[in-house]
Formats: sequence, structure tokens, C-alpha cells
Amino acid sequence: MSRDYLLAIETTCDETAAAVIDRDRRVLASAVASQQLVHERFDGVVPELAARAHLERVVPIIDETLDQAGIDPATELAAIVVATEPGLPGSLLVGLAAAKALAVAWQIPLVAINHVQAHIYACQFGRTASIFPCVGFVVSGGHTNLYACESAEQWTYLGGTIDDAVGEAFDKVAVMLGLPYPGGPHISRLAAEGNASRYAFPRPMLADRSTLNMSFSGLKTAVRYQLHGVGKSDWQANQLTAEQRADTAASFERAAIDCLVGKARLALQQTRLERLCVGGGVCANRLLRHELKQMTERLGVELLLAEPELCTDNAVMGALGWEKILRGEFTPLDIDIQPGLLRGK
Ligand code: KG4
Ligand code: ZN
Repeated sequence: MSRDYLLAIETTCDETAAAVIDRDRRVLASAVASQQLVHERFDGVVPELAARAHLERVVPIIDETLDQAGIDPATELAAIVVATEPGLPGSLLVGLAAAKALAVAWQIPLVAINHVQAHIYACQFGRTASIFPCVGFVVSGGHTNLYACESAEQWTYLGGTIDDAVGEAFDKVAVMLGLPYPGGPHISRLAAEGNASRYAFPRPMLADRSTLNMSFSGLKTAVRYQLHGVGKSDWQANQLTAEQRADTAASFERAAIDCLVGKARLALQQTRLERLCVGGGVCANRLLRHELKQMTERLGVELLLAEPELCTDNAVMGALGWEKILRGEFTPLDIDIQPGLLRGK
């Protein structure tokens, strides 16, 4: 029997996910167990709770996915694909340990992938021609990075946030406005009713054309100062009028998106690559999608955006593993996790 499927496992942050995908990138089964209920009362991901929630969920999610796919893992899987970098250490360990155990039990190869690259590879779905070469841009809760992606193997880090990821800024501003976690989608909905010109929030590093680095921490603080006044901390979100809240959300969203779109444009101009691929949770944002479309149309380059349901963490984007399987690039079973982002490759 030919081995036409891969099982992908994703546990880098706070979603436990598994998927079975065939060689033509058809998704036979996919399941995501969200940890939103675990973390929402803390307004952010608590790493140890995330790891423990993965531990509870990883086996049931894999079982559910294999049942849905209706395949025999020991005879029909070509490999087990697992994201081993970057991410929260405890979370990564759970996924990798599960993947190693199954690889040994079923006697099939292991393939380690990079989660950030997988976010960009989500753009490959719905398309037969390769997405490479392209500028890859990941905009998520943990990452905001630009890459020159010559091929599936050849990635060069171009620049990225020097402090907070853009999604983290969305989530923190949402907390300031009394919105639930994760705040990105809530900010986006509130912003649609607001005036984006009401507050002149900064666009850190946007004007500096010598760097593709970005910064979102100062923008977040500027929103806080606008709401509280400098130095005060006794402010309550419900003291704001509905109009002030919507205008704050809109002005913040506009500033953050100006920074993202400006640096993506600069990356396209500097690399002269003619395609931009964007993935990660914040890529679900409607205004960002619209602005990227306008910018790339003006430059005359192709834009590929991950489908909204493939923007936030999922295992389907583990289809990236096929690129390695087809090159015969398997991972030794003594591999460790790599929590940090490697900027050198
Ligand atoms: O890719 P993801 O699930 O996790 C990481 O790998 O980090 O991204 C989650 C992030 C959260 O910060 C969430 O608020 C943000 O994506 N997000 C959005 C939207 N949908 C999700 N941010 C802005 N607008 C949205 N519509
Ligand atoms: Zn992610």
C-alpha cells in the first residue's frame, strides 16, 4: 500500500491541532482544540497552563483526526509532521514528544517543521503553482516577521518586530478597552464603527527606510496614555463613551496596519520579489487584507493571503511537511525543540 498521507501536529502556543493531508494537499481531516477558556481570565496565554492543556488534549485530537480521515496510520502515513520551532517551550515539548512516540510505535519517519514558515505556507492552499519565490510575512500573536523565501528550503530573515508582535498589541489594546481575549477580532469589529483619524497614534519605525524591523510596544503605550493620561492607573474602560472606544480601536488599528503594510512594501521594493504571501492570525483582519491588496496592486506584484480559517493556528498548514518528505528530508528522533526565532535563516 502506498503511503499517501501525512499526520501533522501543532502545539506551538495555545491551540492543540492535528490534520491528515494527502500529497495533493487535500485535507482529509482537521481538528483544533482551542484553549481560549483556559487563558481568557488572564487576558493572555499562561505558558504552563498551555503546556498542561496540550498534554490533556493532544492524544484525543490525534485520535479524532485519524478517525475522521479513516486511514490506518501504521500503513498509510508517509510521516508525522510536527512544528518544533518557534513557540512556547512547554507547548512545543508536548507536541514533539507525542510525535516521537507515534513515529516509534508506527515505525514511520518524523518531519520537524518551523511554525512561522508553516503560517506562510498556508497561502499554498487553493493553488497548484508554487508560492515560491515570494516575500513571506507572518503577522500573528507571537510573530511579526518578513522573509525572502526563494524556495521551500531557502528562507532569509529580512526583519521583524524588535519588541511585541502585532497580534499582542491588538490583544493588549483590547484589554484596555474592556474587550474579551483574544482581542484582535473584537478590535476589528469595534474599529469598523469608529473614526480612524480621531487619535494620532505613532507609526514606530515606519519612516525609517533603512530597516525592515518594526516595533509595536510604543504604539500600545501611546494608546494607554491616550486613555489614562500619562502616569494614571485608576482608569476604567467603561468610563469611555462608545464613540471614544470605537475611535480608539479604529485609530490604533489604522496605525498598526500602516506599519505592517509600509514594511511589506519596503520588503518587496528591496528584494524585487514579485509575490507577497501573508499568514498568521492578524492576517484575518479585514482592513489589513484590503490595504495589502491596494498596495500590491499599485506595485504590480501578486498577493496571496492565507484563507481566514487558516490564519490562526491550525495543523493544516503542516502540509509544508510534504516539501520535506518529497526531498527525503526526515528528522532524527533525538531532535530537540527550538523555542526562539532563528533570525539567521
Ligand atoms: O496565528 P495565531 O493564532 O497565533 C500565533 O501563532 O501567535 O494568532 C493569534 C493572534 C491574536 O493576537 C489575535 O488577536 C489575532 O491573531 N487576530 C486578529 C484577528 N483575528 C485574530 N488580529 C486582528 N484582527 C483580526 N481579525
Ligand atoms: Zn501561529
